[in-house]
Amino acid sequence: MIHSQILERIQETPSTVTLKFDWIEKVLPGQFIMIWVPGQGEIPMSMSFTGKPKGITVKAYGPPSRQLQQMGRGDTLYFRGPYGVPFTEIRGAKLIVGAGSGIASLLPLVDRNSTVMVSAKTESDLIYRGKINAKRIIYLTDDGTYGIKGFPDQVIKDVHPDDFEYIYVCGPEAMMYKVLLALKGRNDRAEFSLERSMKCGIGICDSCSIDGIQLCREGPVRGIGWLRESKEFGMTKLDRSGRRVRIEL
Ligand SMILES: Cc1cc2nc3c(=O)[nH]c(=O)nc-3n(C[C@H](O)[C@H](O)[C@H](O)COP(=O)(O)OP(=O)(O)OC[C@H]3O[C@@H](n4cnc5c(N)ncnc54)[C@H](O)[C@@H]3O)c2cc1C
Ligand code: FES
Repeated sequence: MIHSQILERIQETPSTVTLKFDWIEKVLPGQFIMIWVPGQGEIPMSMSFTGKPKGITVKAYGPPSRQLQQMGRGDTLYFRGPYGVPFTEIRGAKLIVGAGSGIASLLPLVDRNSTVMVSAKTESDLIYRGKINAKRIIYLTDDGTYGIKGFPDQVIKDVHPDDFEYIYVCGPEAMMYKVLLALKGRNDRAEFSLERSMKCGIGICDSCSIDGIQLCREGPVRGIGWLRESKEFGMTKLDRSGRRVRIEL
């Protein structure tokens, strides 16, 4: 287990914080770490900052993520990793589509060649607002309180996705599934970062399986061609007890 002191805590929104810490390990965009939250267990977190210092961006859901959020400067973070297949990095024109806390894993990809779509339920849920250094940023909210009112799959055609060399997507699975459908005709040069229940992070427990692969080792980033063939993407997943549950679209 690695440990590092938290250097900075940034309140991104009322429910989301970024924790920055020193770690000399090379980490690539799309990779994640398993964080031990004392008394709660381990949860996977994407690296939202891969330079110096490194960082994670945590949204509060249940007790583990809420406890992690309460940590601050000087507290010790315990974790292992980095794990997972990273995004394919290119120099050309990128379209980056992040919904909710999904924008966290995409942030390290952003450069001056990027068009970034950031969506959230409402204005106060938009993270990194005013901090993303891209060629173009398009904000969307479900309720229209900021930016365009609507969902990424409804407006993606307006930015002409075929003009981009590569497309990267991360967010709730229902949103990613609809974006996959909206990108009809595209079978390569697009990658999605998936989320499944992860317990070990290293290929032992199988809790993260999807279509016969283990997402912790062969994901979380998967290509659009594989996702088009998937029987489970956007359909079903295993919950923490191993029961198969339907994904609400
Ligand atoms: C590879 C990977 C990378 C991840 N990266 C990040 C990250 O960068 N930032 C981050 O905040 N989280 C990230 N997550 C999610 C994170 O690991 C936890 O699942 C999340 O923090 C909730 O954990 P919890 O135990 O606190 O809540 P739980 O007790 O698991 O859930 C509490 C409630 O919240 C709901 N819930 C849990 N997760 C979600 C979700 N993602 N969307 C909507 N509702 C949810 C549950 O259905 C439940 O009702 C990542 C997950 C994976 C697999
Ligand atoms: S999380 Fe255990 S096998 Fe993937």
